[in-house]
Amino acid sequence: MKDIASENKLQTYFIETYGCQMNQYDSQIVASILEGEGYRAADDPDNADLILVNTCAVRSHAEKRALGRISVLGRWKKSSPGRKLGVIGCMAQQLGKRLFETNPFIDFIVGPDQYKNLPELISNEKAKEAVSLNHTETYGSIKPIRQKTISGYVTISRGCNNFCSYCVVPFTRGRERSRPAQEILSEIEEMVEQGFKEVILLGQNVNSYNDGNVDFPTLLRLCTSIDGLLRIRFMTSHPKDLSDRLIETVASEEKICNHIHLPVQSGSNRILEMMNRKYTREHYIDLVEKIRNAIPDIGITTDIMVGFPGETENDFDQTYNLMKEIEFDDAYTYRYSMRPQTKAAKMKDQIPEEIKLRRLDKIITLQRKITLKKKLSMIGKKYEVLPERPSKQSQKEWLGKTSSDHVVIFPMDHIVCGQPVNVLIKECTGATLRGAAVRD
Ligand code: SAH
Ligand code: SF4
Ligand code: F3S
Repeated sequence: MKDIASENKLQTYFIETYGCQMNQYDSQIVASILEGEGYRAADDPDNADLILVNTCAVRSHAEKRALGRISVLGRWKKSSPGRKLGVIGCMAQQLGKRLFETNPFIDFIVGPDQYKNLPELISNEKAKEAVSLNHTETYGSIKPIRQKTISGYVTISRGCNNFCSYCVVPFTRGRERSRPAQEILSEIEEMVEQGFKEVILLGQNVNSYNDGNVDFPTLLRLCTSIDGLLRIRFMTSHPKDLSDRLIETVASEEKICNHIHLPVQSGSNRILEMMNRKYTREHYIDLVEKIRNAIPDIGITTDIMVGFPGETENDFDQTYNLMKEIEFDDAYTYRYSMRPQTKAAKMKDQIPEEIKLRRLDKIITLQRKITLKKKLSMIGKKYEVLPERPSKQSQKEWLGKTSSDHVVIFPMDHIVCGQPVNVLIKECTGATLRGAAVRD
């Protein structure tokens, strides 16, 4: 029996990834599955026999981008109909077979928990769908294929149980499942052997990680004992589940970076309740204070959404004021986007786009000022920076990060990639921090 790849003359693949870090990790899992079947990575989509588009459904904009790309790939299919096009990921799960109606040239559609079925689907000429709502997979035995870099993602839990009323993720990714700690640790050990110095642990809500024996603070401590691993980061933290033990763990363990991504979404208790976030503005402010007292140089970043159904000017002002009060190191800002299946989609008082845009504009302007102020306050100080890769502008400069997740550019000056150095911050040009290594 010939293997599937040679039988169908499909030899090379190309994966295009949209959406969050979780999707990027999944694309590495998919690459591993395909390579196990004899496929090889193509350097360019035009040279590939198989293209997979790993999609996102979190906002309608993300969907539109993926749909736009898929329709362009329709021409790619037409030019050589023997090639195959698969749509995978969250939008594939969300839209399922409906994708075939508008894009009949798609060969198969696979949701985020069905990638093990890929080889079978690719080889089956008639297969048109593998969307299933049975989300039980953790891909435990599959080793992702990563580009060899300094920092890499490791998914520790999949799915989400929180059902924030605006969010599609619990529908596209199913219930929360924690991978066994041992599996995560051996994956990280292998990464370190390959030269990785930093891991970023991923989950929709890492703080609720629990494999039955090990909870999240314990998992972090176990990671710190891996020789050769220099830095551990994690995201995302849900404010309702971030415990004192987690704060103590980050404060006391040198290898755990001083950065917490803590999405607040809104500063109005009324809106937080409608969002089903299960914490109040006051709880959030106290939590940030507690974190900052325990870890003075912590970087805190957030996600903020404006224009949730029923958001009044007063609600919005509370978000604006919260941002001013807390002064996040950075914020990812969004305008609410109505998602099918979610509770918020059925709520009254959907906010007109122009109001959402005006509010979004206001918080973007505010956050830019705060981010700049934070960066300017770093000038003249020394920070440990892990050089990760050459900067985009120059092959003579490293791009690295501080423990607090601030990007710093500095001259290479014989410094080795992946070895932390102390960098004196000298200036902030545009939004870029620049410095120079100090050897003392
Ligand atoms: N699990 C993470 C975030 C997942 S999605 C958490 O709970 O924080 C990333 C961000 O996208 C969210 O924090 C939210 O700010 C934004 N988002 C999610 N659904 C959205 C929607 N329907 N419209 C606009 N933004 C949304
Ligand atoms: Fe979505 Fe809320 Fe789950 Fe985050 S915690 S993925 S926002 S439902
Ligand atoms: Fe990520 Fe988008 Fe899915 S944000 S979890 S790829 S809906």
